[in-house]
Amino acid sequence: MGSLLRRYKTLTNGFSNHIKQRVSSNELLSPTITTTITTRFFSSSSSCKTPSCYFRGRTCFNNNNSFRGSLYKGLSGPLSRNMTTTASIMLSGREGLKSLVTAGPHAQKMIGIWLFGSAAWVFSMVVLGGVTRLTRSGLSMTDWKFTGGLPPLSEEQWLVEFDKYKQSPEYKRVNKGMNIEDFKFIYWMEYAHRMWGRGLGLIFALPFTYFLCKGFINVRLGLKLSGLFALGAGQGLIGWWMVKSGLEEPVSEYVEPRVSPYRLAAHLTSAFAIYCGLFWTAMSVALPEPPSDSVRQVLGAIKVQRLALPISLLVGITAVSGAFVAGNDAGRAFNTFPKMGDKWIPDGIFQLEPVTRNFFENTATVQLDHRILATATLLSIGGLWVATRKLDVHPRVRSLIRTTMGMAALQVTLGISTLLSYVPVSLGSAHQAGALTLFTLMIMLTHSVRKPSMIRLKTLGYVK
Ligand code: HEM
Repeated sequence: MGSLLRRYKTLTNGFSNHIKQRVSSNELLSPTITTTITTRFFSSSSSCKTPSCYFRGRTCFNNNNSFRGSLYKGLSGPLSRNMTTTASIMLSGREGLKSLVTAGPHAQKMIGIWLFGSAAWVFSMVVLGGVTRLTRSGLSMTDWKFTGGLPPLSEEQWLVEFDKYKQSPEYKRVNKGMNIEDFKFIYWMEYAHRMWGRGLGLIFALPFTYFLCKGFINVRLGLKLSGLFALGAGQGLIGWWMVKSGLEEPVSEYVEPRVSPYRLAAHLTSAFAIYCGLFWTAMSVALPEPPSDSVRQVLGAIKVQRLALPISLLVGITAVSGAFVAGNDAGRAFNTFPKMGDKWIPDGIFQLEPVTRNFFENTATVQLDHRILATATLLSIGGLWVATRKLDVHPRVRSLIRTTMGMAALQVTLGISTLLSYVPVSLGSAHQAGALTLFTLMIMLTHSVRKPSMIRLKTLGYVK
C-alpha cells in the first residue's frame, strides 16, 4: 500500500509539473491543443463527468480531489473538461508497464514458457478431473496423503486396497460385486489425477526456486506466484475434503453416495481461479503491453474492456453453475432441449426449504439456472461482437472477439449435445474443456484491452 501511494504521488507530481510547464508556456491554452484534445477524447464521449470516463475514480480530476483545486483554478468550461480528460488518461497510463521479469528477453521467454506450460498443465488437470468424475472413479481411493505414495505393486497390495474400497458406501450401494480388474481401472484414474496434481506442484516449484535464486523475478511477480502456489497446495486439500464427503454414508438408503455439490463446485472454482491466475500472469510476462497501433484503437479497446469484464464474470458464474449441474448429476434428468420435459419451467423448482437451497441442490433448478446463464452468456458475447463491429480496434482484439463468439456457440452446442445424450464421458469432458477454453479466450481478450502504459501513449503520439 505504501509503495502504491508513493508511486501515485510520484506520478501526480510528475504530471503536475508537466501541466504547469505547459500552462506557463501557454501551450495548453492554444486553440490547436484544445481542438486536438477535443477531437481525440472529448468527442469520443470521454467526459469525466459521465460514467463513460474510463479512468474515473482512479485519477479523475473532476472529482473533488486535491489536484483539481490547485491545478485548474481559473480554468472552466469545455477547455477544463477536455484537459481533465487528458490528464486522466496521462496519469493512468503508467510510466511503462514495468516488466515483471528483471533479466532481459531470454529470462522473459523462459518464464513465459514455464508459466504457459503450468497453465496448460492445470487445464489438463481439470479435464482429467472431469474424466475421473464421469467414469465414476473419484471415490476409489479411500485415504489421502499430502505427498502421495506408490500405487499397489503386488496382487496382495491390490487386494488390501480393494478391501478398503469394499467398506465404502459407493461399493456397497453402486458397485457391489465389482471385480478387481474394474477396481484397478477406477483406482488408476483417481491415482493419475492425484499424481498429475503433485507433478504440477513440482514443475511449478522447481523452476520458481531457480528463477528466484537467479534473481530473474521481481517482488511483485514473486508474491503473485507464491500466492498461486499456495492456492495450488490448497487445491489438493479441497480435493480430499470433496472426496471425503462422498465416502460418508448418505442420509437416506435410497440416495446414491456422491460428493457434496458444494465441495465439487469449490474444487472446480478453485481450479479455474488457479488457471486464470497462471494464464493472466503468463500473458503479462509475455506481452506486457496491450496491442494498439493508434490512439483510436486505444479508445476502441477501452470500450471493449467495459463489456469484456462483466462478460468474463458471467462466463465464470455459468461455469460454477455447471459444477452444480455436475455435482447434482442433474445432466441425467430433463434430457430435452429447449424445453425441460414438456415444460419451459419444470414443476417443483422451489420445493426445498429454505428457497436458496434449490439453486444448489434441486436438480430441476440447477439445470434451469445453467440453461438461463448459458443463454445469457451466449447472448452477451453475441452482443459484444455486434457492439464492437464498427469500432476501431487492433486486429488481434477483433479476431479474439470473433473467436470467442464462435467458441461460445460451440460450447452451447456441446452442452446441449451432452444433455441430449445423457452425459457420455466423451461429450461431458469436451464440454468441460470447452468451458475452460471459453474462459481462456475471455482472459486473452480482457488482457488485450488493458490500459496502455504512458510510454506506449507517448509512442502513439498522444502524449508528448
Ligand atoms: C457458455 C455456455 C456454458 C458453459 C460455460 C458451461 C460450463 C459448464 C461447466 C464448467 C460444467 C461442469 C463440468 C464438470 O464439472 O464436469 C458444465 C456442466 C454441464 N453443462 Fe454446461 N456450460 C454451458 C452451456 C451449457 C448448455 C447450453 C447446456 C445444455 C442445456 C449445458 C449442459 C450441461 C450439463 C448437462 C452439465 C453436466 C455434465 C456432467 O455431469 O458432467 N451446458 N457446464
